[in-house]
Parts: sequence; C-alpha cells; structure tokens
Amino acid sequence: MISNSIQSCREAIYRDLQQCRSGTFKLFTDIDYDTFCRQAHPDFSPVGWHLGHIAYTEDLWLLQRCAGLKPVFPEYHQLFAADILPKKQRVFLPTLPEVECYLNAVRKKVLDYLEVAPIDEQERLWRFIIQHESQHCETVAFVLQMQRKKEEERGKNEEGRGKNEEGRTKKNAQFPMPHAPCPIPNLAIEIPGGEFYMGSDAAEALDNERSRHLCYLEAYSIDRYPVTCRQYRDFMESGGYQNPDWWSADGWKWLQSAQVDRPLYWSENPAFNNHPVCGVSWYEAEAYCNFTGKRLPSEAEWEKAASWDATNQTYHLYPWGKEQPNGTLCNHGNNIASTSPVDAYPKGASAAGCCDMLGNVWEWTASTFDAYPGFESYPYRGYSQVYFDGEHRVLKGGSWATFPQALRSTFRNWYYPGVRQIIGGFRCAK
Ligand code: AVJ
Ligand code: FE
Repeated sequence: MISNSIQSCREAIYRDLQQCRSGTFKLFTDIDYDTFCRQAHPDFSPVGWHLGHIAYTEDLWLLQRCAGLKPVFPEYHQLFAADILPKKQRVFLPTLPEVECYLNAVRKKVLDYLEVAPIDEQERLWRFIIQHESQHCETVAFVLQMQRKKEEERGKNEEGRGKNEEGRTKKNAQFPMPHAPCPIPNLAIEIPGGEFYMGSDAAEALDNERSRHLCYLEAYSIDRYPVTCRQYRDFMESGGYQNPDWWSADGWKWLQSAQVDRPLYWSENPAFNNHPVCGVSWYEAEAYCNFTGKRLPSEAEWEKAASWDATNQTYHLYPWGKEQPNGTLCNHGNNIASTSPVDAYPKGASAAGCCDMLGNVWEWTASTFDAYPGFESYPYRGYSQVYFDGEHRVLKGGSWATFPQALRSTFRNWYYPGVRQIIGGFRCAK
C-alpha cells in the first residue's frame, strides 16, 4: 500500500469507528437502570452487558493484542468477556455512566493508537471490531423491542384487571382501526441457471464470508418481496398453527414446546398488512412455505438474487450497486426503528428485480451455517467456526436495526432454527 492510501484507510476507519459509536450511544439514550440490567429472555444478555462487552472486545484486540497495552479496566474482565459468566449472572452491572466511561477510556487510547498503527497490516482486524460493535447493537435493539413488548402486555393485563375491579370500561381506550392498505402482489422472479460469485475477500469480509468462490445454480424463482403479514395471515386463519401437515417433524416438535399461534412481533393492526412478517422461527417459515407449495431459498439462491447482475455478468456489493446504504435505499440503522412496507424502497431493488433484500427484516434461508472453501478462522475460532455444527441456519440481508457496516449481500448471520426474538422474516422460492 502506498502511504497516501494508508492515510485514507486510517481516515475511513476513524470515520466508521466514530459513526458506529454514535449509533451505539443513541440506542442508550433514555434507558433507565432497570432496563439496562434486566434480562428480557434467558437466551440473551441484558443490554447493559452488551455495551460493556463492546468496550472489552475493543480493548482486548486493539489495545492489548496489537498495541501491547495493559487492560484499561482489568476489573471488568470477568464480567464483560464473552465466555466467563453465564447470561443470567450478567445482570449485576455498573451504571450506564460508568460503562460509558469505560467505552470512552478505551476509545481514547484506540484513537491515539490509530495514528501510529500499521493499518495496512491490521485493516481486517479494525474492520472486524467495528462490525463486532454493530452486531451487538443489533442485539441491543431487538432486546429493547422485546422488553417494550413485555411492558405493553403487562400494561394491558393491568388495564384488564382495572376494568374488573372498577366494574366499568375505560373511556377512549380504543382507537379506530386504520384502513388496510391495498395488498401488494408478491410475484415470483425467474433467475436463470448459471454461475455467480458467492462470498467476499474484501477487507471488511468476516471469516465466514471467505473465500469468494464460483457457485453454479439451476434456474429457480424467488419472490420479489419478503412474505408480508397479509400473506402470513392466510396461513394463520387457515389453522396453520393447528395443522401438522404443514410442519416438518422437528418443526412440529418445536411448536409443541413453544406453544405459540402467531409470530412474536405480530400486530392485528391492518396498517401492517404490507410489512414483512417479523418474529418467526425458521420452523414457522418452513411451515408457511409448505402451506403455499413453495420453499425457503438456499443461501446461494438468496445471494445470487441480491447481488448478481446477469445482463452484465457482474456482481454488486449492494443489491442496488455500489452506493453506501442510506435512508432512500433501505430500512436500516434504526432510522425508523420498525418494519416498513416491503415495497417502500424501489430504488433498493437488485438487478434481478428483488426488493427489500437489505434492511427491514433478516431473511431465513434453507441453508445450515457452513464453511466456504478456503475458510480460516479469524480472529478467533469462537467467532464462526464453533457454529459450523449443522444446526444453525443462515439469515441474510439485515434488518431495520442493522448498522450500515454490517449490511451487504455477502453478510451471513446465523441462529438456531427455533429462535424468534431476532428481527427475522423470510421470502419464498420455488
Ligand atoms: C453473528 C449475531 C450470531 O451476536 O452472537 C458478537 C455475533 N459474535 N460477538 C452474536 C457476535 C461475537 C453473533 N451473531
Ligand atoms: Fe461479542
């Protein structure tokens, strides 16, 4: 790398570090200490833990491993390391100002080090750290959403009890239901058979995206939009949750223990009809596909529909091209902090004509999370490799909470098929 480009790389990393951090702090404005420390679900840590873990990880990799410095606050090691305390013991936390102080102390030294670091050798690690923070912020966003939902439900129950005790109904409790918007046709798009490039070797590519490789696919079709609430309602109203015919054996087993009959983030409000269904497990997505005679796309099918330009035989980093994600191209980065109609971002369409591929909701794919050819763990085995267990399923595309640094067609997310707390939906293929 010539020195000029080293300098511009340093500046780009500085910009992204600071931009990501301002998004992080924004998530924590107006968070009280109870919300900060509360465990909303046994599978997820309190939001305050994520904030401390962001600082811990930055300190570990950039200051200790690269700059050779001592930990900034060694007393936080036990609490904020990824693999020491079980999640339920992560509720005894310092206050938000104390954790912010930790973040700021680490960041100050990191910015000093950035001035002198051999960035040409380390770019990949710095890019990893920025995306690590981005991903924890996404978890913070959906944990906060889960907490809000629980509070709403608690509020409703109390209101219900109030009614009984007082023996009269509260006035003005009901707002008129808004009219349902016209349903949008969710037509299938034909993707011709042939090869395309899958994965990425770019500096920001995480270990699991590497290496970029040619992949051949037979012709298939994939829906223009993710499955909407209006579409999913047909499944619910036809007794989809009561009929084992639509469910795989594992799916039905999951349903019997989960005891649910609607998506986690379901709303009866018809204003959401054209929003993507959100808060479904992989099993619910699978059952819906069986109900409609379709199937989930494989990860390769999803990525080809998002990134491959068959007319010019070229690849696009983003479905729309090279332009950085912004508020006119897709719903991301907590810009609106909720789902949006699936046809709201026509400028964000892929060359193949698929819309809403990035942002809005993560999309489950049929694929298990596996290594690509030439995979090497980076920066540690526990980032991706320990999840290549044949159990985790790949999600693509990012959600309304995904930071721009983690938003691209090659990005891979993964969870167990029974998880429905993430901001997840799906689209159908055939
Ligand atoms: C890829 C989102 C499943 O949050 O568990 C963060 C990302 N890995 N710190 C997670 C991650 C280590 C990971 N996901
Ligand atoms: Fe982490």
